[in-house]
Amino acid sequence: MEEQMLRGALKKLEDRGQLLKCNREVDPKFELGAVLKHFNNEQPILFNKIKNHSMPVIGAMFGNRDLYYEMLGATRKDRIFKMMNAIANPKPTKLLSKGPVMENIISRNIDLTKMFPVPTFHGGDSSSYITAGIVALKDPETGQRHISVRRLQINGGNEMSILVASPLAKEQFAFMEAQNKPLEVAIILGYDYHLLLASQISAATYGVDKYEVDSALRGEALALVKCQSIDLEVPAYAEIVLEGIMPPHKRVAEGPFGELMGYYGERAMHPIVQVKTVMHRHHPIFQTSFPCREEHLANGLIREIELYSILKNLVDVKDVNVTVSGGCRFHTFISIHKRFEGDGKTAIIGALASSKDVKHVVVVDEDVDIYRHDEIEWAIATRFQASKDMVVVEGALGSGLEPSHIQRGVTDKVGIDATKPLGEAGKGFTRAIIPEYEEIDIHKYFPELNG
Ligand SMILES: Cc1cc2nc3c(=O)[nH]c(=O)nc-3n(C[C@H](O)[C@H](O)[C@H](O)COP(=O)(O)O)c2cc1C
Repeated sequence: MEEQMLRGALKKLEDRGQLLKCNREVDPKFELGAVLKHFNNEQPILFNKIKNHSMPVIGAMFGNRDLYYEMLGATRKDRIFKMMNAIANPKPTKLLSKGPVMENIISRNIDLTKMFPVPTFHGGDSSSYITAGIVALKDPETGQRHISVRRLQINGGNEMSILVASPLAKEQFAFMEAQNKPLEVAIILGYDYHLLLASQISAATYGVDKYEVDSALRGEALALVKCQSIDLEVPAYAEIVLEGIMPPHKRVAEGPFGELMGYYGERAMHPIVQVKTVMHRHHPIFQTSFPCREEHLANGLIREIELYSILKNLVDVKDVNVTVSGGCRFHTFISIHKRFEGDGKTAIIGALASSKDVKHVVVVDEDVDIYRHDEIEWAIATRFQASKDMVVVEGALGSGLEPSHIQRGVTDKVGIDATKPLGEAGKGFTRAIIPEYEEIDIHKYFPELNG
């Protein structure tokens, strides 16, 4: 068995020549984030020398779509079916009595900023933030395990503020709080592509054990160990686990924080996590995700499954792209094989109904590459007439992560049907192509060109 979690993923990245190593000292305050941003957060970078810390940091592992598929052992074509299959057929996990994450166990004098090189990303951020932490907890009523990424603001000592947006985790905390009891949580750092993707499935939609979805996705049982001080299980091969509690009736100001769409989320009162025990491997690697960009690709990949399955019932959908620049939620590009006039509009209805977050939809024919903005623009420029091909829905509910929605409390939705007409009318839309263009090997003509 290849080692699971971060070390396994790093080895794969290294073997493929896809891991960049930075051996120059970087400051976790702003400088580290600036280097990640330079590569558009698409280039995994291992920072070996961090100012005032001995622990290395890995960042931008999850920002590149094609790399993500590759690391899952999937392709653009089959990734949706692989993910659907894992959600529909979860597989058991494996509980070990010991695992590498237990190599060091610390229960005293926990000072998170001294122990870990936690980055600060933007000038207006309230503090340093753990941006990549997968928070594990158990539903106190059903015992169902739950994992999801939540940002954690470092408050000093062993305390962090936690931002929980989805209803399920909120309800679990509220349930315990009503009984004046804490909710136990474990924060997992140093994981891989499979676990992050599994964490992004909505528990409310699927009701599955996300650890078991991970097992199905990776094709082998996810190895877990028990926490030391709380009743939770965590990946045995993770780098770092912070065990703690969310105490009832405690709130601390969280934010501002430069988030999803590159704006600052405002300061508000949020629950806290008190860390009781830290487990980590020997020579642990701290994991971070650049906010505003990298962080939500995995979330968008899950949204694509949901969008695709809705559209499949309506039209002959070929592929869907919930775009990165649209925050992996606001914009969807859809390619269809048009069978009937009206398919384009039907796809728009389906896409807008798939999630309240979807704001703008563009539907194109299958000859348009939905991963290229120039191709989408070309289709809109040449196959779209606003008076008949545009759908506008005024004043619908949108996303609380989108500033123009926040300002009005409602959002306008727009669908653009940029498909060509069928039959005789469609003949004028045949693309001019060069036969065998795809096969041309440009190096034959210019041997001096690299790559
Ligand atoms: C890197 C990253 C950071 C995220 N940060 C947060 C966050 O701070 N708060 C939050 O509620 N969701 C955050 N999310 C989204 C949740 O993790 C995601 O919606 C959740 O796992 C869905 O599952 P659930 O509905 O079962 O909770 C983040 C996702 C990623 C990938």
